[in-house]
This record gives sequence, structure tokens and C-alpha cells, in this order.
Amino acid sequence: MPSAIDDSNPHPRLSRKGSITKSSIDGITSHSILSAKSATCAVSCVSLYSHVIDMMLAKGREMTSAPNTADLFAISLAVTITAPEKRPFPARLTQSMVLEAGAGTQACRHGQRELSARRAVSDCIVVVNFKTYQTAHGASAEELARVMSGIDTEARLVAAVSALDLSAVVTAAPDLEVWCQHLDPVGFGSNTGWMHPETAIERGASGTLINHAEHKVSIEHVAMLLDQVPEGFEVCACAADIDEAMALAALVPNYVAVEPPELIGGDVSVTSADPGIVSGTAAAVREVSEEVGILCGAGVKTGADVAKAIELGTIGVLLASGVTKAADPGAALSGLTSEL
Ligand code: G3P
Repeated sequence: MPSAIDDSNPHPRLSRKGSITKSSIDGITSHSILSAKSATCAVSCVSLYSHVIDMMLAKGREMTSAPNTADLFAISLAVTITAPEKRPFPARLTQSMVLEAGAGTQACRHGQRELSARRAVSDCIVVVNFKTYQTAHGASAEELARVMSGIDTEARLVAAVSALDLSAVVTAAPDLEVWCQHLDPVGFGSNTGWMHPETAIERGASGTLINHAEHKVSIEHVAMLLDQVPEGFEVCACAADIDEAMALAALVPNYVAVEPPELIGGDVSVTSADPGIVSGTAAAVREVSEEVGILCGAGVKTGADVAKAIELGTIGVLLASGVTKAADPGAALSGLTSEL
């Protein structure tokens, strides 16, 4: 990820020039925090968390460096799991960031969400990932988007499209929700080849996938993206298993989608092949946050698969080949939503 961001970057989280080193937080590293599973260690994490944040706030505007997101995330995760009553991490982190950046900063997404009531994530959602399937790129992507737009259903249908097709798809199906498949937490400036969120939003994207099994990123990448994108722009973080889902849920994206990589693109739905990972993820994510919507994916193809996903505790699915490789994508989409 580029280290230097243009000064005109409107997202102060990305203007960080340095980080609090591990040694500066009493020698306790994020690695040790993440491996702190005993109650004793958990208490240490809580006090460390308070110490770090208090130190940051005390320094206020004089602070020239920002905290290391990975360290703070590790602390937050430990606190979330072991002491949920001490979980004001996003608001406190936001406060420190605003102090660091000075007056006139744009409130980051985490801060905004702490202050405003969030929309309840209760609608069933079916996200169709176009990937780079030949049947879902270029003109075919536009056609598939039009087909999705014409499906008569109460469920939310979302198309996650290639960035190269974003504008054309939005124009072709203006009523359809269109997401990106990936974004990078970069601002305006010298970031060759990176996926710039503001441009995506200008081009009509209303959300994005991140950390898909086919495009993995660091947890810091996800955290910084969440802080950069505005309220209302939806982020679905993908996870390969329950542990990763919990880690991502601690960042409070709009959705966490669990997709066992080995089942992706296959003929057997995760809801049949491994229902435990779906119900387990639903329970684990719910322990971490009540705000995060839970999705599952991999091999999902039928209305029965979607109904089973809901029964297992999700609010919808993320799928690709069940639609993109279907002989009749319209019929496939109608089938997917038929049992809701
Ligand atoms: O993003 C959805 C995807 O990874 C699942 O793919 O083809 O198994 O539905 P598929």
C-alpha cells in the first residue's frame, strides 16, 4: 500500500506519517495481545487498551504520529471478546484521529456510526459477484445487471462488478444496487493502479466487497477502508472461516460473508457441505457485534440454499457461478429468491 498520500486527501485517517511503535506501548506487542487468551492476559489487554488510548488523547493536537491500526485493532478485538462492556474503541479512536488531524477534518465512518443510529440490517440480501466471468463482463455485465433489475422480489439484489464495468453497469441498470469487488484505502494522489473509493462512489458504487478469498488483504487494509468510506457506503468483508469472521466483525463492517475457499465455484452449497461453518459464524459474529449482517457463500445456487442460509442465521448470500454460469440467469435469480 502506498505510504505517502497527497496532502489534498480529504480522509485524515490516510494522512498518517508514522505510528506508535510496539515498544512505546509498554513493550506489549499486538502479537502477544492476539495470543492472550487467558483471563489474566485479557485484563492486561483492557488496561493496555485504556493506557494507549489515554496516552493518545492526552497528546492531542501535538501528536505528530498516529497509532498503528493493527495494534489498536488487536487491542480492540481482545477487549471486544473478553470485556465487551469496555468496547468504545471506534469512538475513542475517532476522537484521537480528529485531534491528530486538527480542525476541519471530515468525521470518519466509524465515528459517524457511533453517533448516529444505523439502519437495521434486516432485509434479505443476495449479492451476485460478477468476478471476471466472461458472461458477466463488458456488455454481458450490462445485460446481466438489467436482468437483475427486472427480477420481481422483496429481497435486495446487489451486483458486485468489475471496476472496469462499474459506470456502464450503473448506466444500464440505474435502479440496481451496484458494488465494487474490491477497494483500496487510498486518497487522491500518486497511487498508481489502486482502487480509489471516492472515484468508485462518484461512478455509482454504493458498496464494496473486501478481502474476498480471491483478493485477500490485511486486516489493517480493511480497517482503513472502513474508516475512509462515508456512512451509507456498504462494506462486506469476506472471511474464510469463523476466526477470520470474528476478527473482521470487530471492525464493524456492514456485512461479514463467510465463504470456505474450497467450496467456491463448486456444485455443493456451503449450506449443505458445511452448515456448521455458517451457523458457527452467525453465532460468533453475533457475539462480537449485533450490528454486523451475516452472509454466507460458496456453491449457493438455489432457493433452497438461500432459505437454508437464512435458517442457519444469515440474512443472505454472496454467490457468483450460480448466476453467472447459469443458462438462464433470470430464471436462476428468480429461483434464488423464490423461497423467501
Ligand atoms: O463471491 C462469491 C463467490 O466467492 C462464491 O462463488 O461461484 O461458489 O457462488 P460461487
